[in-house]
Amino acid sequence: MKALAACLALAVLTLGMGAVSVPRAAQAAPAPGAAAAGRKIFAEVGCYQCHGYVGQGSIMSGPALVPQLPAFETLRAYVRHPSGQMPPFSERVLSDAGLEQIYAYLASLPPPLPVSRIPLLRR
Ligand code: HEC
Repeated sequence: MKALAACLALAVLTLGMGAVSVPRAAQAAPAPGAAAAGRKIFAEVGCYQCHGYVGQGSIMSGPALVPQLPAFETLRAYVRHPSGQMPPFSERVLSDAGLEQIYAYLASLPPPLPVSRIPLLRR
């Protein structure tokens, strides 16, 4: 969490300086605490059941959502009207605000470690 806070603080600073290149996680400028709230909703409404707690995906069901997180509008459109195996989530079960928090959560997740940095996989 400390790293995330530092990251957000840095992003806010960068935005303040009018920098051109802004990390994607900072573009939507999520409200403070949005990622933590999104993490809770991600579990409560059941996204984790198919996509894993950290969006890593599962060979049994849902694809990985990170690190190639789609644009928010793409994600929202899919969650409301999926075209494959995934069940739809209407606004009654999951509000747009909740979805934005889920998005902030997914955007806050670090990319997975490369295989070269996992000793067990190098044997
Ligand atoms: C019952 C399993 C299941 C649940 C629950 C579920 N998904 Fe999915 N999701 C899938 C599957 C399977 C796909 C692949 C496309 C398809 O078959 O619909 C998918 C695809 C997606 C995609 C498109 C990914 C891409 O790369 O195109 C997004 C975004 C997504 N899910 C987000 C969510 C979010 C957010 C939630 C919770 C609100 C959620 N999903 C809940 C199974 C699930």
